[in-house]
Amino acid sequence: MNPFDLKVKNVGEYIMRWNDLDTSPYTKEDIDPYTKARIILMNGTEFEMVKFGHNFSRHCNNNELRCELALARRIEQQQQKAIANLKPLNETLLETTISYEQLAVDLTAFLAQRCLDKNLKKALDFALLEDFDHLYRFSNLLEHDYKIKAEKLVGGYTEIMPGRPTIAHHRHPYDTIKTFSDIKNIDIQSLIDTHIITAAEQQTMNFYMNQASFYHNDYGKRLFTEIGMVEEDHVSQYGSLLAPNVSMLECYLIHEYVESYLYYSMMENETDKTIKKLWSIFFEQEVSHLQASNYLLQKFEKKNWQEILPTGEYPPLLKLQSNIDYVREVLKNTVNLTGDHEDYIPVDKLNEKDKFIIYQNIVNKPLSAVTSHTFIKDYIEKHGKDYRFEVDIHPIKSLQNREKDNTTVGR
Ligand SMILES: [Fe+2]
Ligand SMILES: [Fe+2]
Ligand SMILES: [Fe+2]
Ligand SMILES: [Fe+2]
Repeated sequence: MNPFDLKVKNVGEYIMRWNDLDTSPYTKEDIDPYTKARIILMNGTEFEMVKFGHNFSRHCNNNELRCELALARRIEQQQQKAIANLKPLNETLLETTISYEQLAVDLTAFLAQRCLDKNLKKALDFALLEDFDHLYRFSNLLEHDYKIKAEKLVGGYTEIMPGRPTIAHHRHPYDTIKTFSDIKNIDIQSLIDTHIITAAEQQTMNFYMNQASFYHNDYGKRLFTEIGMVEEDHVSQYGSLLAPNVSMLECYLIHEYVESYLYYSMMENETDKTIKKLWSIFFEQEVSHLQASNYLLQKFEKKNWQEILPTGEYPPLLKLQSNIDYVREVLKNTVNLTGDHEDYIPVDKLNEKDKFIIYQNIVNKPLSAVTSHTFIKDYIEKHGKDYRFEVDIHPIKSLQNREKDNTTVGR
């Protein structure tokens, strides 16, 4: 599929009516967990598009171009509203959070398994174990505060057990900045996958930035605050991989290409008929944005899409699915890694002077104020053991004990 070959209408002909934005919310008891994950992913993709479009416009001195950006951006906003309205009112903040972390796990694992770029692959495997641990901590909060088992929400497709413990995720900001890719060398799949995961992690970051203070009790608020800081780390990591040697217009075209690719992937994999229809409508809209961005690139920079994308053909489509074996494998091999400048190394190779140790000694003091740990500790005291959903024994021996929260793995 090459979206540059498709025939579509002009961007402005896709402006929607209020009724089109008033989509019917799904029923939370019946919805497929991956339909929820797709909704979150596409909501986050639209957030990125809107943020990028505003930024571009503020750094642009040409009103003709700024008008075209504003027109497409208005439709991105309409798409975002229609997607956001799919979430039912009776889905709580914490239930939505479980879906955010499930998406983080299964999207990251999917991208890591097909990854051709070694820097991106390392980054994906690294953050995978952290969002996996977030899912576990939030699931315990869900069981504690609502008596709901998160395994139901994730449909049993994703395990719920400790990953690299959250207390070990707090790294010095310098250690989040990795080696950026070069637009001339990166393969198209890795290029778009870096954009996809950056937007998805950014959406989790946005969500926690807005929602943390709305949680109805103190330890919940503190857990959202702590994990929210880790999402800042993840967004810094992935954002640092993006190729900086593109113009804003070239980057705009890449963004539209990513959007069209994602809607096409969502549409092909969607099991809910009504939502599938929505993805297909938005796919067509995105193809019109993409073709318009190419027209702008030709007009203002005298370039063509072929100079940025080696081929217009979509890579294999993105699929959200269960990745239990892969996550276990990565856990087994890399749970003890931490960030070290542009790379990742086993934490026991560090010494007192390394930034990770220095940063840990600042933020995690005293240990009794690290809620990701104390919450599980208190939960165990109350219930005898933590809440998990494991299909087999935990692959890391020191994380098998359900009666004691581990604070040493990865730090
Ligand atoms: Fe869009
Ligand atoms: Fe996370
Ligand atoms: Fe994350
Ligand atoms: Fe778009």
